[in-house]
Amino acid sequence: MGFMKSSRHAALAIGGLALAFASNAVLADSAGKWTSGKEVYDKVCGYCHEPNPGLGPNIKGAHPRDVRERVRQGHRAMPSFRQSEIDEQALAQLIDFLK
Ligand code: HEC
Repeated sequence: MGFMKSSRHAALAIGGLALAFASNAVLADSAGKWTSGKEVYDKVCGYCHEPNPGLGPNIKGAHPRDVRERVRQGHRAMPSFRQSEIDEQALAQLIDFLK
């Protein structure tokens, strides 16, 4: 009986952990996968737009309208990004970061 009792406790504890992980995943999803505009810049834009390698021009201080247009539509060597890659919230944060 002692065994049954403790294994039920263990199962409860594991169930609680799984629940904690699941709700964390939901939170992370609803908050988007990017945490800041800087993160998007560092991990995506900076790859081409940092002075080194400097494939694209410096975009810090670029006009918000231009950033939005380039990100969604691309232009020549500049690729476009979909909502699933950079969601609206992240784009707004990114534009803010670049100001
Ligand atoms: C694969 C490399 C690459 C990545 C990644 C990239 N860009 Fe670009 N981008 C370019 C190139 C190359 C140009 C110049 C294109 C042209 O006009 O011929 C450019 C141009 C631009 C321009 C126009 C700048 C100007 O002065 O004309 C903006 C704004 C811009 N990119 C924003 C972004 C943002 C924001 C991101 C991140 C979400 C990003 N780019 C990611 C390569 C890249």
